[in-house]
Amino acid sequence: MTAPSGTVSGSHPLDSLSGDEIRRAADALRASGQLDGHARIIHVVLDEPDKESVKAYRPGTPVDRQARVLAVPGASLDLLEAVVSVTTGEVRSVRTIEGMRPALTFGESLDAILKLPKHPEWQAALRRRGIEDPARVQIDPWPAGSFGLDLEDGRRISRCIAYLRESPTDNGYARPIEGLIAFFDGGAGEVIEVQDYGEVPLPPERGSYLPADVGAMRDDLRPLDIVQPDGPSFVVERNLVRWQRWSFRVGFDPYEGLILHTIGYEDAGRVRPILHRASISEMVVPYGDPGQMHGWKNAFDAGEWGLGRMANSLSLGCDCLGVIHYFDVVLANEQGEPYTIANAICMHEEDYGILWKHHDMHGDTNEVRRSRRLVVSFIATVGNYDYGFYWYFYLDGNIQLEIKLTGIVSTMAIEPGTTPTFANVIAPGLAAPHHQHLFNARLDFDVDGTTNTVCQVEAERVPTGSENPLGNAFRQKVTVLATESDAQRETNAASSRHWRIVNPERLNRLGSPIGYKLVPTMSTPTLLAQPEASVAQRASFAQHNLWVTPYAQDERHAAGEYPNQHAGGDGLPRWTAANRPIAERDVVVWYSFGVTHFVRPEDWPVMPVEYTGFLVSPFGFFDRNPALDVPPPHTEHCE
Ligand code: CU
Repeated sequence: MTAPSGTVSGSHPLDSLSGDEIRRAADALRASGQLDGHARIIHVVLDEPDKESVKAYRPGTPVDRQARVLAVPGASLDLLEAVVSVTTGEVRSVRTIEGMRPALTFGESLDAILKLPKHPEWQAALRRRGIEDPARVQIDPWPAGSFGLDLEDGRRISRCIAYLRESPTDNGYARPIEGLIAFFDGGAGEVIEVQDYGEVPLPPERGSYLPADVGAMRDDLRPLDIVQPDGPSFVVERNLVRWQRWSFRVGFDPYEGLILHTIGYEDAGRVRPILHRASISEMVVPYGDPGQMHGWKNAFDAGEWGLGRMANSLSLGCDCLGVIHYFDVVLANEQGEPYTIANAICMHEEDYGILWKHHDMHGDTNEVRRSRRLVVSFIATVGNYDYGFYWYFYLDGNIQLEIKLTGIVSTMAIEPGTTPTFANVIAPGLAAPHHQHLFNARLDFDVDGTTNTVCQVEAERVPTGSENPLGNAFRQKVTVLATESDAQRETNAASSRHWRIVNPERLNRLGSPIGYKLVPTMSTPTLLAQPEASVAQRASFAQHNLWVTPYAQDERHAAGEYPNQHAGGDGLPRWTAANRPIAERDVVVWYSFGVTHFVRPEDWPVMPVEYTGFLVSPFGFFDRNPALDVPPPHTEHCE
């Protein structure tokens, strides 16, 4: 968020870094002599204060704000991480992280895109395919994965794949240059190897989705305007949002994108905490085609690219409709200079049908209330795909995350007339490999306090007998998840399985611990790759839908801090190996969810939105329906 520059004493500890603070942090690190001229800065982010400091903060108290600066000193694999006080300019700590790679850098990726067209083997491979002009070729550097190859060793590499574009606005993914991969060493700035697995004819169609190419447009869609003559019902102070009974702080991270801090609901004059912090901690897109050209593809779009770094500037009336509040975000470039993504986060209210209703035929009353939700969203474009992340807050205490998957599918050229086993044909000579989009949400629950217990709840059928003479009975089975290994769970739609996070220290008027439940709203897969596969080692978080850990400030990313080219085992599997107790303490819930994508012809040439997500819903948190006080709609038709 753009904070007024130089404000320190007025800052909240969770305010995002201002441009000034970013510059101050990078300058302080440079002045300390820790970075030489070859160093690239990977990120400058807020060093988020611990939970106790956030809770202890009172407005007006001076805050010592710290930034974390990550840099690559040069071509080697060591990373340097410094914590700098942006309040005093003091470098508080510096550590070297050995043998780790940062997320792919823009500078190194651009270097690959500029150098590869000049490489003689690359040019020769293009000529074998009838492509004389390398400038017409779109190059997509991909995270290379970790496969124990000699050429991965000790280097920051990307695998570059290519597409033909007859004109600059062509849809490159319509014409994949099959069989051709180049390995690029980002640190050394050189092409290491060009691999050619043989030519496949270029698919014939252009696959354009631009208005000029799709023919006549529909002419019978009349305007649909959202009008709020008195303005929206939310209030924004810097990064603090209040809407209805809700309050939270908006944050942003280069990898996770949107972060929601200190989500609470005001009830009888007291803000009751629900989530201390919520974000997407990681995601992975593993491909299911075993071939040389596609089998290595498993991009970690958060940790290897950065959902926040790929955030779009959103436009009114296009990306978002209604009375919008935008938040700008400020990130650091590779020189440690701030840059702004204007309108990166969109916030507005939406009508959402009915909230509750009853038509009482005996008393002849008809009470109905409109549901309304507050939407906080951003959209990240990661190469071919576009992901919209939408957090919804509802009047009845529900919170929902919905992810909208759109953009262009990753494609492969096929011999005309063949039917691939691990891909679906989507256009003549063009197929899309089967793949998954698997996300992990890190949900630091503080349900009315930090003493929380997570239970698994599901329906249990009862055998017909003396307890169940009619055979109709089923009961609610509640299982306390006592340790980290207990809490590694999968969804089960048939038993309505979900998880309830309760606070045993706070009882509702019925004497039950208050709680919130985490509900899989759509069927969701786990990782389909074999357990020994490289991607399974690296994306272990996706082997279970649910994980629960005791709160630890430095456990933030489900696949570890540095997943790029990492061999695996970091993050959730490493932390939970200790099998720590998780009942009746401060817990973090990690929910892995997503879709398995068997691509349809209708997903081409651009994919209509597909949805995934989850719901967080009160369960005995309130004593009754908390939305009884929502007034009837202001319209005479409802009388
Ligand atoms: Cu997909």
